[in-house]
Formats: sequence, C-alpha cells, structure tokens
Amino acid sequence: MNFKNKNIVITGGTTGIGFATAQAFINAEANVWITGRNESNLEKAAAKINSSNLITVLADTSNMYGINALKEEIVSKKILIDTLYLNAGIAVFSGIEDVIEADFDAQFNTNVKGPFFTVQSLLPYLNEGGSIIFTSSTVATAANLNSSIYAATKSALNKIAQVVSNELVDRGIRVNVVSPGPIKTEGFDKVVKTEEAKTHLASSVALNRLGNPDEIARAVLFLASNNASYITGTELLVDGGYTTFARR
Ligand SMILES: NC(=O)c1ccc[n+]([C@@H]2O[C@H](COP(=O)([O-])OP(=O)(O)OC[C@H]3O[C@@H](n4cnc5c(N)ncnc54)[C@H](OP(=O)(O)O)[C@@H]3O)[C@@H](O)[C@H]2O)c1
Repeated sequence: MNFKNKNIVITGGTTGIGFATAQAFINAEANVWITGRNESNLEKAAAKINSSNLITVLADTSNMYGINALKEEIVSKKILIDTLYLNAGIAVFSGIEDVIEADFDAQFNTNVKGPFFTVQSLLPYLNEGGSIIFTSSTVATAANLNSSIYAATKSALNKIAQVVSNELVDRGIRVNVVSPGPIKTEGFDKVVKTEEAKTHLASSVALNRLGNPDEIARAVLFLASNNASYITGTELLVDGGYTTFARR
C-alpha cells in the first residue's frame, strides 16, 4: 500500500499502537501528524521515526484547548486530511467500589469527548473520500471484571462511529473502528503489570499470544486504503481470536 502525498493525522502517536501506525504510514510515504501530551515522548517518537514527513503536535486531545491546538496546526499548514485516526486512549481498571471520579472523568474525556470533538473540529479539513478510524477495544462488547468505565467509553465510541458513518456518507467519508485485543504496548504494561498476568491473558487468546502494535497498524492502513472502499460503519476486531475463543 502506498500513501504518497496523503495526509494522516493520528492522535496519541508517541507510543504503542499510534506510534506503530505512524511508522507504517511513514514507510508507505504518507505525511503524518502525531499528537501527544508530553513533549519528551513526542521528541523520542520523532527521533525514532526520523523522517521529515513526520510532524509532532503537543496537544492533549481530551480537552478543547488541545483539540484547538491540533486544528490550528492543520489550518496553518493549509492541508486537507485524508485519514484521521482517533487513537489516543487511557484505561484504568477498578472494581465498582474503587472507581474514583477523577479516573471516570479522565477516561470519558480522553476516550469519548476528545475523539468526538476532534472529529467535529477537523471535519472542515477532511478530504472528500477520506476516512476516519477510531481505536476502540474488544472490551466494548465484552463484560470483563473491573472494566466498567473503560468498557463504557469504548462502547460509546463504537456507537459514535456508527452514527457518524451515516452522517458523513454524502461526503464520501468512510468511518470505521479497529478493536484490538491485548497488545504489547507501553500503555498495556501500565495496566497488566506482571508477567504472570500477561501469560494468563495470552492463554485466553485463540492464537495463544499477545498481539504486536504493528499488527494493529496494518489493519488501520487497510481501512484507510482504497482496498477498504466498500467498508464503512464497521468494527474490525484485531484480537487473535480473543473475543470468540472457546477454551478447550
Ligand atoms: N494495548 C492494548 O492491549 C489495547 C487493547 C485495546 C485497545 N487499546 C486502545 O488502543 C489505543 C492505544 O493504546 P496503547 O496500548 O497503544 O497505549 P499507549 O502505549 O499508552 O499509547 C497511548 C498514546 O496516546 C497518547 N495519549 C494519551 N492520552 C492522550 C491525550 N489526552 N491527548 C493526546 N495524546 C494522548 C500517549 O502519549 P502521551 O502519554 O505522551 O500523551 C500515547 O502516545 C487506546 O485507545 C487504547 O484504549 C489498547
């Protein structure tokens, strides 16, 4: 797949899935904008990718101030976006007794409000025939213990994607969701801390292993490409069979 002269915006592109996707788009010759909240993470990502086609934007897309900073960058470059990938997300796992308001708000702001208003504010700068992709999660349709708030944010995102896919058909903009299973990332390590927990999780996947970020990146590039020209309003599970695994 080649994305030469295509403009790709990725929220949360400094580590994990977003970083792997930025690298994959750069390898496919795209121009790529990545956001993150942390200047040093942005610098590290830029150094690793080491391409003049990569632009970093310091923007916390969980609030309107950060979303406006991203919008101003796009306006100043006078570009139209071909693919907008809403990937920034955080997860805090707690049982209902232990959920605190700050974690509830941070997850809804980062995982739902942020992507929604980022799409809304960048809509005028999206190319006709472009595409929007959201990172959701297998938890959106499962009911894993301690995931009530995180799962609710991803379910909300799935519904937003479905409705918006209908609202944007007239502009030829396809809207889809990628739902990863357990993927080895910096964010994953913060939530699943021990090797024992990782091994246990890997054994709940049909393919009997955790996924790699580039395996999600390849799915995102497919959905962004013309190979997916008849795909909109869908959720693509990239989970090694985690969702449907029947333990023998
Ligand atoms: N890894 C998994 O197993 C898994 C499974 C299902 C779904 N997901 C989803 O996949 C997405 C990426 O997760 P990951 O595992 O790759 O996590 P990660 O390694 O923690 O990466 C998250 C990225 O988002 C950025 N970010 C977080 N909050 C942000 C905000 N408010 N504004 C801008 N950037 C922000 C982070 O950079 P800074 O910290 O520098 O801001 C980082 O670049 C998330 O939506 C997550 O829910 C992950």
